[in-house]
Order: sequence, then C-alpha cells, then structure tokens
Amino acid sequence: MGQNTPHFKLEELPPLREKVETLEILRQTAKSTAALAELKGTAKTIPNQAMLINAIVLQEAKDSSEIENIITTQDEIYKALTVNKSKITPETKEVVNYRKAIFHGFDLVKKQGFLRVNNIVNIQQELVDKKAGIRSTPGTVLKNDKTGEVVYTPPQDKAEILDLLTNFIDHFNQIENDLSPLINLAILHYQFESIHPFYDGNGRTGRILNILYLIIHELIDVPILYLSSYIIENKPEYYHLINRTNRKGEWEEWILFMLKAVESTSKDTITKITNIKNQLDKTIVKVQTDSPKVYRKELVELLFEQPYSKIEFVVDKLNVERKAASRYLRELESIGIVESQKVGREILYINRELIEILKR
Ligand SMILES: Nc1ncnc2c1ncn2[C@@H]1O[C@H](COP(=O)(O)OP(=O)(O)O)[C@@H](O)[C@H]1O
Ligand SMILES: [Mg+2]
Repeated sequence: MGQNTPHFKLEELPPLREKVETLEILRQTAKSTAALAELKGTAKTIPNQAMLINAIVLQEAKDSSEIENIITTQDEIYKALTVNKSKITPETKEVVNYRKAIFHGFDLVKKQGFLRVNNIVNIQQELVDKKAGIRSTPGTVLKNDKTGEVVYTPPQDKAEILDLLTNFIDHFNQIENDLSPLINLAILHYQFESIHPFYDGNGRTGRILNILYLIIHELIDVPILYLSSYIIENKPEYYHLINRTNRKGEWEEWILFMLKAVESTSKDTITKITNIKNQLDKTIVKVQTDSPKVYRKELVELLFEQPYSKIEFVVDKLNVERKAASRYLRELESIGIVESQKVGREILYINRELIEILKR
C-alpha cells in the first residue's frame, strides 16, 4: 500500500456501546425519533398513498443520484416515465433505474420483512444496469475528488467482503438489545459504505438500504423519508465524517450527523406532505366550482399521482373513452389546473403547482 493509503481494517459490527451511546447522541436520538414519528403520523392522513409515494420517491431518485454527480431535471425524468420512446439521456436512465430499485426493495421488505445479502446485490444491479455483482478483482480505492489522494481502501478480498456483508445484514435485520434503531441506522450506513461491496453504486445502494431499514423496523410505513437532500446540502461533511470514522474509529460526530439528517428531513417532509394535501384540497374545490361537470375525485387524484398526465392514464383510471378523457383534460387546462405540452406525438398535462411544491 502506498504512503497515502491509511492502514485500516474494517471491524465487524457491533461497535462498543459506550462509543455509540454518548449523552449527546442520546439527546439527539430523542429529537430525531420524535420528528420521524410525527412524519409517520402525518403520512397516514393522506388518503391516497400512491400520490405521496410516487412524487417523493422520484425526487429522492433525483437527489441521491445528484450526490454522485448524475444530474438531470425533473422535467426530463417525468417525460421519460410518461412518453414511450422519448429521447432519454444516460443520466435520466440512471435516475429512472434508481426509482425502480427503490420500488423493488420496497416490495421485497413488504413480502419478506427482512433482507438477504442477495437482495442487496439485486437492488444494486437494478441501479447500474450491469451484472458485475460483488467486487472480486482488487483495486477499488476511494479517492478525494479534487486532489486524487487515496482516502480509504475498502476490503479487497471477496471472502472478506462476503463475511462483512453477512455480519452487516444480521445487524440490519435485527437490532441489538435496546439500541435505538436510528443509532443503528447511522452505524449501518457507515458500515455499508466502508465495505463498499460493489465497483459502483455503493452510495446509492446504501441510501436505498436506509429507507428499507426504516420500513422493516416500522419507523415508517411507506418509502417517504430520504436523507439525500440533507446530504447534498452538507456533502463535504458527509464525506469528511465517513472518512474520520474510517481513520479514527470515532463514531460520535458521524452518528450525530445522521441523526440530524433524520430530524431535518422528517420536518421538511412533513411540510411537504402538508403542502401537497392543501394543494389537493384547493384543486378539488376549484374543479368542483369551475367545472362541476368534469369533477371526479379519481380524476383530481390522478393529477397528483401523475403530475405529468396523459389521456391514456385518464382512460385507465376512470374507465372512460379516449374522447371523454381528452375532453376532461382540456377542460381542466381551461380552468388552469394543468398545462399542456406536446412531446413527440403525445400531449402531456402537467400539474405545475404540484411540481413547484415537490421541488422546494
Ligand atoms: N472514506 C469513505 N469511506 C467509505 N465510504 C465512503 C467514503 N467516502 C465516500 N464514501 C461513500 O462512497 C459513495 C460513492 O461510492 P460509489 O460506489 O461511487 O457510489 P455511487 O455510484 O452510488 O456513486 C459515497 O456516496 C459515500 O457514501
Ligand atoms: Mg459512482
């Protein structure tokens, strides 16, 4: 190993209790746990869960990819999802895959109630579209983006990686006696990133595992809490603290970072859900008042499930003829609820006000 490569051996879980349960950590855990519990309650007040999940998962797919410098726009992603054969950039493709990978993971945890190492491999595969699997060729190192300096060398030997993953998944599925699940979440995310089992996609897979973990342990019912927006705002610290933990085995600051991320993103998501709910109510009233003949509850909900809608969606959802569906959408456009845009042969009807809420 070169002079710059820190000599470091990744330990199996769990770390010493006194290292991960300092007074400050316990205090912050109480705040983060309360914020997340409130989010869980708020989410339940939305009658149509698909509305919530679709929009929030898509935003997360975009944010988490952005951490890895995969940049695209909401507009492009929605078009890719709505229009067959729309021209799609490689970045957009990766974000669309990310979204699929989250839903795939969500289905797995709903069905099984736990995860297997193999499930993690499948999730990563969905994400990167390649069948490389767990690293078996040495050479993967983590470098500082700017200086090129090697900051961390993850385990190189496939057998060691597999042992560490087995140890990881045990602690993922089952929490040690009385340890707060949120403290465990922070420990697990560090551990997964440090095992770095894949050639690529470790950051994104690790962030999908975070939400699946929260669902398995019933801290949230549906996949709507994501830390990526917080990580983007604090990216240097995110990297710095993982690194510090690698080098010094000191957990406190890293765990506090993750706990604060949970508190902050829970609060932001509560605000977002409240805004979505208010916008939905406002839209219902407006359609009932301005176009009472067109009003159907399902029609308005569709515009929130699919902020980029099209005739076919209305046909499927309301079981009506194309002609009627088209008339409904044009009527909604005339009262300012949606805005139409032609993309190829398709006309999309965009719920702009919702898009603005989601962006915030
Ligand atoms: N010193 C470090 N030790 C362990 N993991 C790190 C370190 N620095 C960064 N990481 C993690 O590695 C991720 C990037 O790995 P990568 O395989 O390229 O994932 P992706 O393709 O999703 O970007 C970062 O998002 C971060 O979670
Ligand atoms: Mg990468």
